[in-house]
Amino acid sequence: MNTSVKFAEEHMDRFVSELFEILKIPSISADPAYKEHMATTAKLIQDYLIKAGVDKAEIMETNGYPVVYGEKIVDPSLPTIVVYGHYDVQPADPIELWDADPFDPVIRKTELHPDGAIFARGSCDDKGQMFMHVKAFESMKNTGELACNVKFMIEGEEEVGSSSLETFVKENKELLSGDVILISDTGMLSLDQPSITTGLRGLSAVEVKVTGPNRDLHSGLYGGAVANPANVLSKMIASLHDDNGRITVEGFYDKVDELSLDERKLMSEAPFSQDSFNKALNISKEWGERDYSTMERTSIRPTLDVNGMWSGYIGEGTKTIIPSTASAKITMRLVPDQDPDEISGLFTEHFKKIAPESVQVEVVLYHGGYPYVSPTNTPGYLAAEKAIDETFGKKPIPVRSGGSIPIVTMFERELGMKSILLGFGLDSDAIHSPNEHFGLKNYEMGIKTIPLFHKYFAQLMS
Ligand code: BES
Ligand code: MN
Ligand code: MN
Repeated sequence: MNTSVKFAEEHMDRFVSELFEILKIPSISADPAYKEHMATTAKLIQDYLIKAGVDKAEIMETNGYPVVYGEKIVDPSLPTIVVYGHYDVQPADPIELWDADPFDPVIRKTELHPDGAIFARGSCDDKGQMFMHVKAFESMKNTGELACNVKFMIEGEEEVGSSSLETFVKENKELLSGDVILISDTGMLSLDQPSITTGLRGLSAVEVKVTGPNRDLHSGLYGGAVANPANVLSKMIASLHDDNGRITVEGFYDKVDELSLDERKLMSEAPFSQDSFNKALNISKEWGERDYSTMERTSIRPTLDVNGMWSGYIGEGTKTIIPSTASAKITMRLVPDQDPDEISGLFTEHFKKIAPESVQVEVVLYHGGYPYVSPTNTPGYLAAEKAIDETFGKKPIPVRSGGSIPIVTMFERELGMKSILLGFGLDSDAIHSPNEHFGLKNYEMGIKTIPLFHKYFAQLMS
């Protein structure tokens, strides 16, 4: 066994308790009320980087929340790994659905995590996974096994669209130069069947607002004679999918890269049980685009979903009105070669076109992001494959994920580097949901696999 892997094993208890300290700070990027906690979290990560043995660690200001940057240059002639992660987390609400305080981590056993899992907001997404790199680095540093130079770029705005990161990257190209970007912010199929994420979906986010009469109206005096924005918006939204589960926005599928039957056949070999999927979500029947499997629907096919809707009176009892407005937040997940700006444009055009004359429609565009696919023949992928094979005792399979990390495509464009998505979470870890957790075993396997990635990446690059 590598000595750094042994070191990690011996120090695992401390590695867990240190992660707890980070998880205790509510670094919620979406809500400005938590601004101070963002700064505290950044500072704590800086401290941990310094303790782990980097040459320098800095808190670098941006137009938004700061980026924690750290580096250890062992030898300029060695390859450089740029580690990306994020210290911001999603809001914890609905807080009443958590079994314990989301910012006071506890360890509990679950069916899929018989050795225990850390329950806390950010445990998996992404503080726990980001911190695996700090601890793996510490292990390599302490045992003299650093095979590559390492740069850390830990941002605080991923959950709100990474809006400051592009400028940050453009202004620091020299600082961030390297050979590969390594990210642990995704998942794997299971501990028994490891996988490497080879694709991410892109994103188009919009908000729509339908306005009818200039004020809420008495639904008795006016009902039946004035279009109700809530009724109208529901109908418009319902029409965005046809009976085959396909999105009706004109041109939406024009640039979708259709996979060959061979590629689809390969995908279908990954283990998946529709029954357990349904059971875990307590749904009696799955849904989606006709002629595609659940795995395909959540990875290689684009989607359109309402994330939130509001209109009229939602308090206690009844209030007989026709609301003046109705709104919805909608996101579309995109696949290669869809372009987020183009899709937002097509959506806007379509949504305005289907609006009846009785209402007015506004569409506001939010952040977007490009889809990503990574090749499986690069030194980075091969190093990840070898490293996982060694720690898990099984060769990982490539899997395209349905989630999005929009900056990955930007990194490639601005820094000329591919990203390797070396994630250790499970889909069932409830990221973004109440009771988010991260398996202790997953955490440990991550910390043990990362040093091997460094080792094999150095070998494959020389
Ligand atoms: N880490 C997730 C993305 C992810 C999770 C990808 C699991 C693949 C598997 C990331 O923090 C995230 O939540 N991204 C957002 C997009 C962002 C623009 C808010 C998402 O996918 O909704
Ligand atoms: Mn994340
Ligand atoms: Mn997230």
